[in-house]
Amino acid sequence: MAETTLDLAGVAKPEAYAELARQVDVVLEGIDDEIAAMATISSAVHTAMQHLWTGFYRVVVPGKLLRVGPYQGTVGCLEIEFGRGVCGTAAATGKTVIADDVTAFPGHITCDPRSRSEIVVPVFDANRVLLGVFDIDSDQPGAFDTQDRDGLESIVAWFARPRAAA
Ligand code: SME
Repeated sequence: MAETTLDLAGVAKPEAYAELARQVDVVLEGIDDEIAAMATISSAVHTAMQHLWTGFYRVVVPGKLLRVGPYQGTVGCLEIEFGRGVCGTAAATGKTVIADDVTAFPGHITCDPRSRSEIVVPVFDANRVLLGVFDIDSDQPGAFDTQDRDGLESIVAWFARPRAAA
């Protein structure tokens, strides 16, 4: 399989995310499986961006509970309630949350004490139903900005793509 790893160190964020979105589309062509997509996106983004933790929390009880899905990094906490911490806030509001300093974020859940900043992007299907959130943690403070938000939102737009009727 082509397109296995991308080295995006030193590449400007908008170009890096565009390249990642292209890689994800190529690798997942013909695949209609959300878990396979979550695993592929986690691996692609983690390998290219080299942050601490990259992965998904899935909605298992709508409006109430997230459970960990495919990820890369140290062991993540298993369940997060809607409204709790950065992931729970993104799930509850349906909006991307950027925490420049996780220690200042109310209710932040510490999975890896090295984490300093975080971005969490909600993941919707084609009907705007919330499937989960995509979470990236960095060991650097203030690692994420609106370019990361735009780039990551365009990558998880894979889950909202129109699908051929079965
Ligand atoms: N810190 C997160 C919890 C998930 S982990 O970082 C993997 C939060 O407060 O949502």
